[in-house]
Amino acid sequence: MRELRIDLGRICSNYLALKSAFGPAKVMAVVKANAYGHGMIEVATALDKAGVDVLGVADLDEAIALRLAGIDAPVMCWLLDQKDDLQSAVQQNIILGISTIQQLESVPREAAIHLKVDTGLGRNGFMPGQIPDVVKIIQARQLNVQGLLSHLANTSEAEDFAQQVVFDSVYSMLEAAGVKIEIRHLAASAGAISYPGMRYDMVRCGIVLYGLNPFEDRALEGLAVKPVMSAMAKIANLKLVPVGQGVSYGYRYKTDKPTQLALVPFGYAEGMPRISQGARVKIGQELFPVVGRIAMDQFVVDAGDAEISIGDEVIIFGDSARNEPTAEQLAESAGTVNYEVVTRIGGRANRVFLQA
Ligand SMILES: Cc1ncc(COP(=O)(O)O)c(C=O)c1O
Repeated sequence: MRELRIDLGRICSNYLALKSAFGPAKVMAVVKANAYGHGMIEVATALDKAGVDVLGVADLDEAIALRLAGIDAPVMCWLLDQKDDLQSAVQQNIILGISTIQQLESVPREAAIHLKVDTGLGRNGFMPGQIPDVVKIIQARQLNVQGLLSHLANTSEAEDFAQQVVFDSVYSMLEAAGVKIEIRHLAASAGAISYPGMRYDMVRCGIVLYGLNPFEDRALEGLAVKPVMSAMAKIANLKLVPVGQGVSYGYRYKTDKPTQLALVPFGYAEGMPRISQGARVKIGQELFPVVGRIAMDQFVVDAGDAEISIGDEVIIFGDSARNEPTAEQLAESAGTVNYEVVTRIGGRANRVFLQA
């Protein structure tokens, strides 16, 4: 009745496209949050077979889940909880992004760590002023520091470059204190595309790996990536209604002529944004408007006098190259971003994986 189609061949070809665009920098494939809704284990397994440089997740539990699924590629996580068992990270050969003094003091000595520094985003990571204390602990405990990372705010070019200046100065401070850093990484998808000088030794790519545009204000150009996910459901009911028919809760829409309404069993329980307004979906070869409020289990399409039937496939989003609506367009209809649309998608929709 409803399905998310995940093209694992595209995951691998997108990854290779990123490698050739951003090399010689390594490319971390970011598979946190269930691979942005695409299915973490299946996506990571496909990338592992394709020889991914590193897989990136936020939580230690996600990293351990990758290992338990038999994935051998290097794995890094960077959002630790005080109660995380960091010894298990060592046992499972997981690289840790370290952001607090408490983590630095408790991480097992043999763990492979990357220091996370807050260069301006105001989220996780050490403030630059903490670096002298960080160095003291590293030296006293003889920790195994391999990398230095930070994350850009993508606010403006000037602000991104200001973050880079801070990043470089923290790197110099560490080097001057004798802390050797092998791998510097600052850029995620947007930064890796926009600023060749910020690719350093590695870039961390999430959204663009899934073939989606990291920018809200411009097209994604010059990268041979294609959308990996498409969301579909089959028409569950189809009926002729008169002019003036109210549609769904609150009658946000009333028909202005006799028409045909198609019921699509894909609701906000599946991640279709409830506030979406003005979205379009594809049935057959045509696009039709979604009308009225999205409900928990379903939404309604005004299909006019199109020749369609119960059971026909409705593409909710997919690939513009197939003339399908995009995750970006659905996001725009709900005042959000493609990241949120794909990451929240799911509910009762099955993921069907097209093998690489
Ligand atoms: C630290 C870090 N690096 C990289 C990424 C990947 O970002 P993007 O999906 O924009 O490539 C994220 C995602 O939010 C992140 O938190």
